[in-house]
Amino acid sequence: SLGNLRECKTGTLRIAVVTTSKYFIPHLLGPFCEQFPEIDIQLNVGNREQTIERLKQGIDDFYVFSHPPIDADFNSIELLQNPLVAIAHQDHPLAKQPHVSLTQLCQAPFLIRETGSGTRHAIEGFFKEHDVTPNVKMTIESNEAIKHCVMAKLGISILSAHTLTYGGQHGLVRLPVSALPINAKWFFVWSKSKRQTLIADQFLNHVQTNGKQLLEDELQRNGIDT
Ligand code: PGA
Repeated sequence: SLGNLRECKTGTLRIAVVTTSKYFIPHLLGPFCEQFPEIDIQLNVGNREQTIERLKQGIDDFYVFSHPPIDADFNSIELLQNPLVAIAHQDHPLAKQPHVSLTQLCQAPFLIRETGSGTRHAIEGFFKEHDVTPNVKMTIESNEAIKHCVMAKLGISILSAHTLTYGGQHGLVRLPVSALPINAKWFFVWSKSKRQTLIADQFLNHVQTNGKQLLEDELQRNGIDT
């Protein structure tokens, strides 16, 4: 009926997706929204565990996982391949080899996503299956942060190839709005009452001494003027 049609043209669509899919889901939503310009979209981005929780609570209309839970009752459609690939800084010794063995991969300091991440879930399954253990150096709650830690030579990692391909700035420009930018700032914060470890003191000292300069140099290298 006309009523139903109007309803479906103006409602809210609720989608919860895992972090690795946020690069392509918008490209799925774009043409759809062009077709239904009146609808509102609520897009939630979380890790696997958070998205499973939303699924269990029935919060959203649709979910995107790369490792859906096996115990729940749901329908699913296969969407796309999500290859997880190993990444390193171009100066890393492993990056100069024609072939990298799993043993070598496991010797290098490794950066891994947090517990609850589907990416981590997949990586742990993979290493277990091959009977090897990675040399985990950092646990990091974001694909982008892992990418940047790899770029800062903190270690190697395994990430969804989507986080690499779609993480660039292809097709993106900065609009010349004179009232912008919004001058937000980052703050380095710590508790007044918590007693710091020696290494924490060292790090604070490092931040106080070199922090500003290091970060400003990095921004400049990336063409971001502050
Ligand atoms: P995640 O993404 O690592 O943020 O949970 C899920 C996945 O790709 O499986």
